[in-house]
Amino acid sequence: MNVVVGITGGIAAYKAVGVVRALVLAGHDVHVVPTEGALRFVGRPTLEAISRNPVHTDLYEGVSEVRHVAIGQAADLIVIAPATANSIAKLATGLADDLLGNTVLASEAPLVIAPAMHTEMWRHPATQANIDTLLARGVTVVGPAVGQLTGADSGPGRMEEPEAIVRAALAVVGETDAPSGTGAGVARSHDLAGRRIVVSAGGTREPLDPVRFLGNRSSGKQGVAIAEAARARGASVTLVAANLEIAEPTGCAVRQVSTALELRDAIREAAVGADVVVMAAAVADYRPAAVSEAKLKKTPGDAGLTLELVRNPDILAELGHAPHDGTVLVGFAAETEPDDVRLVELGREKRAAKGADLIVVNRVGWHEGFAGDDNRATVVGEDGAVVTELHGTKVSVAHGILDVVVSVLTDRSSTEREPTAGRPARTTDEESDPR
Ligand code: CTP
Repeated sequence: MNVVVGITGGIAAYKAVGVVRALVLAGHDVHVVPTEGALRFVGRPTLEAISRNPVHTDLYEGVSEVRHVAIGQAADLIVIAPATANSIAKLATGLADDLLGNTVLASEAPLVIAPAMHTEMWRHPATQANIDTLLARGVTVVGPAVGQLTGADSGPGRMEEPEAIVRAALAVVGETDAPSGTGAGVARSHDLAGRRIVVSAGGTREPLDPVRFLGNRSSGKQGVAIAEAARARGASVTLVAANLEIAEPTGCAVRQVSTALELRDAIREAAVGADVVVMAAAVADYRPAAVSEAKLKKTPGDAGLTLELVRNPDILAELGHAPHDGTVLVGFAAETEPDDVRLVELGREKRAAKGADLIVVNRVGWHEGFAGDDNRATVVGEDGAVVTELHGTKVSVAHGILDVVVSVLTDRSSTEREPTAGRPARTTDEESDPR
């Protein structure tokens, strides 16, 4: 296959060498088209040596061969990695002021881009609007991943790893399996356009007094990744955010909450008429029976303190057992179980007990599952069967979960299921037992 690798001028350009190399090793004829900016980060000799082909950047070189048209027309696939905010803006408007821009316009080959930039630039409404334009045009967007950026900052914006980009790109032309599961976060199209999705993220805090709370280690990264991925796929997203440790995503309606009861109120309100509810938040199962108005003081000579806790409502179970009309309900099961088979079994039991349609099972522990940028999860479906196993960045896991959600939504709309006995049309004012 003839693959054009476009490289634009960002620090991640050095990683593009890995993309070129992986494509060459996979047996493809690779033609690299770097922008002038890219050549400030990675040298032409390196790109020629790795690609085993001459590298051109200048539109006005080789005019007699009409090079920009020739490269574009010959391409079976174009991969642009990294794609800077500037290059994304140019692609969205169809600018052709360099060889790469011309090559893209002169080609009918599938286009795959791997954005890389600082978080603020990625989240800027201009960049997001450009990404929306490209997605609507059928461009495949791989990543960006969430993680350490060039400076001290960290967040969404890091280019996906070369192997993940290549795997996603080859999947677009049917050369490998769909990348959901192991590769990058791939937004393929606006397959959630017109859908309303509610996502809870973070961890609740249950106050003991004005200065203390009972909380948990959830950072909110996986839930925020789901909200962002759903938005990228065209959904209108409400994020119910409980004490996030990371920045809120742009383009989503955000409801800030802190306690389980606040989260419950926000979810109940947002869930009315939603197509999908994803309960990714870690919700405290108990709260202090009483919250002291003043800071709790030590009693001189006491040996310890006993707290009285009362049960919080199980929000997911309430939604699952309340009448609802076709809303796809996705829960998470965070388990410390070391045995893989038993882990999935626990998820299966949780799904059934809570009446969720899908449950995303993931192992948590002292060193697993919380603040990290990667995740590993198993999605258990409506009949209790494992639908997919996902591992990779939290963004890629988010897309993998949404792939399953999209297929459930598609099945439901194709069968136009009547609300079942357990699921008549949703009512908003119905109270149900907390457990
Ligand atoms: N959940 C909820 N309300 C609660 C507790 C959990 O809605 N009070 C939701 C979580 O958002 C998640 C799912 O239920 O989607 C499972 O949460 P998890 O913490 O794994 O399980 P628990 O139900 O708390 O059960 P246990 O702690 O006994 O494992």
